[in-house]
This record gives sequence, structure tokens and C-alpha cells, in this order.
Amino acid sequence: MAVQHEMRGDVVVVTINNPPVNALGKAVRQLLLELAEEFDADRTVKAVVLTGYGRVFVGGADITEFEKPLEPPYLPDVVARIEGASKPWIAALGGAAMGGGLELALGCRFRVAGADARFALPEINLGLIPGSGGTQRLPRVIPVDVAVRVVSENLVLDGRRAAELGLVDYLTELPVVDAAVEFARSAIARPLPTAASGRDPVHLETKALEEADARVRRSARSAAAPLLAFAALRTGLERGVEAGLEQERSTFLHLRDSREAAALRYLFFAEKAAPRPADLRDVEPLPIKKVGVVGGGKMGVGIAVALRNAGIPVVLADRDVPSLGRELNELRAIFAAAQKKGVISLADVEARMDGVSGTLAFDAFSDCDLVVEAVFEDLAVKRDVFSRLAQACAQETILATNTSYMDPRQISDGLVRSERFIGLHFFSPAQVMKLLEIVPTPETRPAVIATAFELARRLGKVPVRSGICEGFIGNRILKRYRADAEAMLSEGVAIADIDAAMRGFGYAMGPFEMQDMAGLDISFMHREAARARGESIPETPGDLLVRAGRKGQKSGGGWYDYAPGERTPLVSADAARILEAMLGARPKQLSAEAIVDRLVSAMAHEGQAILDEGIASKPSDIDLVEVHGYGFPRRHGGPMFRMSRR
Ligand code: COA
Repeated sequence: MAVQHEMRGDVVVVTINNPPVNALGKAVRQLLLELAEEFDADRTVKAVVLTGYGRVFVGGADITEFEKPLEPPYLPDVVARIEGASKPWIAALGGAAMGGGLELALGCRFRVAGADARFALPEINLGLIPGSGGTQRLPRVIPVDVAVRVVSENLVLDGRRAAELGLVDYLTELPVVDAAVEFARSAIARPLPTAASGRDPVHLETKALEEADARVRRSARSAAAPLLAFAALRTGLERGVEAGLEQERSTFLHLRDSREAAALRYLFFAEKAAPRPADLRDVEPLPIKKVGVVGGGKMGVGIAVALRNAGIPVVLADRDVPSLGRELNELRAIFAAAQKKGVISLADVEARMDGVSGTLAFDAFSDCDLVVEAVFEDLAVKRDVFSRLAQACAQETILATNTSYMDPRQISDGLVRSERFIGLHFFSPAQVMKLLEIVPTPETRPAVIATAFELARRLGKVPVRSGICEGFIGNRILKRYRADAEAMLSEGVAIADIDAAMRGFGYAMGPFEMQDMAGLDISFMHREAARARGESIPETPGDLLVRAGRKGQKSGGGWYDYAPGERTPLVSADAARILEAMLGARPKQLSAEAIVDRLVSAMAHEGQAILDEGIASKPSDIDLVEVHGYGFPRRHGGPMFRMSRR
């Protein structure tokens, strides 16, 4: 049974037991409704304690049901029925009360929680708004301005904070159900407090509401759901709870069927599944207690930060004392910036630095379980690093390359015990970007691959396995994206039109602005190296710009011009002159939609080729790469998702 109950004297304890997260599926809703009727009619029951089995109270509505038509009983009715019960219902909250879980708890007259409880309304992450009264009851239980942050800005409250705000009536260190039963006994003797939906809003100030409105508009960027959630909340404050509930529900139902919500649900499940690939289910990962990082450029430093943020001790190696000193300073600067933003405390900064040691000699890696190489992209240099690592490290130490383009088989060719070798492609800045491409060679042993996935989970990364090809999944698609964008130039489409269209689609930058920011010279060098190897690579517009000294923002201009110290792209007559022979003879107007279609289809076609070649195992892996490594707008799901829904 998804909902069980047992009597404890005159208090009945109702336990939702619906693994994995006690989601409020149809069976749970049905049983809760029946029990609410039954207990109101049963004179031996004086109070009801409602809890969830295991580590989570309730993880929300059952997201898997959102693919199907709605089926009664509906959650708002269940919450309203519990709220209208003639006896006190007390939510006993350990662990997370997310979305519908919090809404259900708000339907109870009291809430008893442990400090480990967490309260959130994460519906906006799924392109939705709360649909069962969350936008209405919450601002009647906690101050309106905090409620807005929970509803529209992803604020999560822990048990302690929730108690300070009035959401939790009793904070306990005892097992929550025992404490809630005790609490229930005292509640029986008192009159029922007003139900949340019948109360007045808490600390409602018009000025604060106006400020919240402006803030939500800013933080929502182009997403619709946070603004719609705020609008429903506001309606309830201005026109009463009935009007608010009505607006909330109709907005929820409308959004539930939207393409954006479907895309976000698809990503939700893909992200949850990413760290646990089916073929590694029975493979035990190796322990990772300490990690070495070779090469302290921006990438090495970023990887070290990501590891320290996850509490893993790091040994950072570079070639000389000044370089090492610089890198340790950079590390400290990154932690200090996080402290300034209030993300970590001063003590955390020190603790994170204490867990890093610098070295010039690889001997210091002797007790590392993993060493990640992040040196310059040069085969001879990398091979030298690995042969020295093989001598300095224990036989079991996993050796990983962070190469973004090179064939890991060539890097590990001749390496002693090459079955412990793997590609771990982090994205820059590595402490921020969520994507980790995991690139095993045919020799890499399964336990090493499983360890890479487990490490990604610990670092909070989204891991995707890639087979071996130039650029792996992500950079291969990027190359195609850029090539198609450049092909449009030769047809006469303006650079600025292409960038504007992709920004309008949801990218932070268009393809040309992005190249100007990252620098045009790296891909130019790749092409030149391939040409030197005898490969036939046609001249590209980017080659012309780099040869003319236009390498992007860092050289004052690339595809665009930049005023000194500014990052705003300005249409460049100089670039147009250099590219004259390659640009279309006559200007061509393409709608933003046509530009987006062309470029996203190109990405999807390359993705399909990658799947056909077995480089990626499923379309959602390609979409995760694009969303987490290349800024593809989440609300469109990814190029493969978009293509499948046309
Ligand atoms: N409906 C259906 N399935 C859900 C779910 C939900 N609301 N929330 C989580 N799951 C599933 C996950 O997909 C995962 O499935 P899998 O094991 O098959 O991959 C499983 O439950 C465990 O989830 P996980 O996130 O790994 O567990 P956790 O213990 O780390 O975290 C939660 C639990 C509830 C905090 C977290 O899952 C969460 O935040 N869920 C989303 C809540 C949400 O958005 N609710 C609003 C719905 S409108």
C-alpha cells in the first residue's frame, strides 16, 4: 500500500510509502482522500500525524504522470480536504518537502520538523508553477517577501529557518514522528487554529511587493514560469485567496501541457539518470580520497577548485615555483570571491586552501587515487607527463587526461597499465561548468569508468560518456554549428543577424560573439596543425581574420570591433573588408526563426551522426552535453529533443 496507517493511542500516524521519493501519484492521492474521510468519521481518532517513509517527506507531484492526462482525485482537492478536516492534521517532516510535498504540509494545521527538513517549491525548474495552493497558503504562513523567494526564485528553507519564519510550529531533535505524536496530544486539547488559506498574508507591504516584482523579472531572465507564479501569488494578495487559487490552477494546467515544460521534464529525468549508466550498475567504483592535478593553467585551477568544493584533498603540480605560486593565489582568489558572495564562510576559504598542496615533483602524487593532466594540448608534452606519472604513482592510481581534441589512445599508447587510463574532459571554468565528458579508451577497465561517473556525482557534475572522435561529442557539434553559421555568411546573411537570432532563442551569446570572447586563434591553430599533417582543410573566414590579427576581444576585434575595455560587439567594417571574398555578394534577409532552425538542425544532424557511429549512446546524452557544456537554452531541451518534437 502506498499509504499506511497505525494507531498510537488516539493519534493515527499516516505514512506515505511510495518509493523512491513518496511522490503524490494517483494511488497516494486516492488513499489520502479516503483516509481523510474515514478519520473525520472515526470517533476514536483525535488527531492525525502525516509523514513520509524514509529520507524524504514527499518529493512532490509524480512527475512521470505529467506525460499523461490528469486523473482524479486532483491534488488541490486532497490538500483542501485535509485542510478542512475536523481534527488536527500534523505534518511530521524529516528530509525534503518539495513542491506538492510542501503544499500538502501547508494543508495540515501544524508542522513538526527536524533541522534536516528542507522546504521548496521547485516547480519553476520544470516550467510550471505550484498547482495545489502553494502560491496562496505560503504567504499566509511566512512573510510575503520570503514566500516570493520560495515560489519564484528557488529559495530552499531548512528546518531551522522554517521554524524562525513560522512555517514549522515545533522544531525537534527527536525522531519527527514521535515528536509529532506528542505534539498532536497537546493539539487535541486546543481549538483548531485557522487554516492557512483562511489567514491574512504575513507582513504584506506594497513597496516590498513592487521590489519583489522587479527582482523576479530580473532573475527570471526569459523564463515565463517565475513571473506567472509571482502573478498568481499577487492575485491572491490583492483579490483574495479564491481568485488566487483559481489563477494558480489555471496557469498550472496551461503550463503543464506546454512544450517548455515537456523539455524541462525530459532534462530532469536525463540529469537524474546521467550519473548511473545502466551497464555500470553492478560495477563498484574505486575509492577517491585524494587527487593530483598536473598543469595549473585556468583549467587545472578550475579542476582543483571543483575538487576542493567537494571536499577532496588536492595536490597541484606545475613546472616552477612562480607558476605554482600564481596558481595557489588564483585558487585563493576564487574561494575569496565565493566568500564575498556569501556562498561560503571565511573558515571555509581557509579549509579549502588547507586541503591543497603544491608540488614541483610528481613523487607527491604517490598517495593519490587519481591524477588529472591538464597541460597544453601537445601530444609529445602529454605523453611525457603520463610516462613520468606512471613511474611516480602507485599502480592502481587512475590517470586521466583533460584533452578536448586529442585521441586518448595516442596519449596512452605504450603506457604501463593503460587499463587505468581515461579521458575526463572538464569544461572551462571547471568549477562552474556542469558537463564532464568521460572518454574511456577500449582498454579502460569498467571500474575506472564507474569511478569517473562516481567522481562526477560527488562534484555535482553531469557526466556523459563519449566515444573517441575529433572533439568528442561537444566540440564536434560546436564545429558543425560554427561551420553552418559561417556558411550562412557566404549566402549574404549578416553576422549580427545570426547572433541576434541565437540570442533570441535563448543562448547568452551568438556563435560569432562567442568566438570573439573565447578567441579565434585556438581553432585556427587546430586547422593549421591539421593542414601541416597534410589534411585538406579549406580556408575559413576565421583563418582570414586571425591572419589579419583579429583574434577576438583579446586583440581588440574579431568578427566585431570592440571599444577599448568594452565587451559590446560593434559591426566591423574592417572585418567585412577582410572577409569580402567570402561574404555573400548580396545581403540576404533570413528570419530569426529560419536562422535558428538551420543552426539547431545542423547540430541535431551532427548529433544523429554521432549516435549512428556509436560515439554517444542516446539522444539525451547529446542534449545534456549541449545544455551543460555549450549554453543551449534549457527550455528547448536540446537539439535532439527539439528535432524529435517538430
Ligand atoms: N516524481 C517522480 N519521480 C521523482 C520525483 C518526482 N517528483 N522526484 C524525484 N524522482 C525520482 C528521480 O527521477 C530518481 O529516479 P531514478 O532513481 O529512477 O533516477 C529518484 O526519484 C531519486 O531522485 P534523487 O533526486 O536521486 O533523490 P534524492 O534523495 O537525492 O532527492 C528529492 C530527493 C525529492 C529532493 C529530489 O529528487 C527532488 O528535488 N525532486 C524533484 C522535486 C520536484 O521538482 N518536485 C516538484 C514536482 S512538480
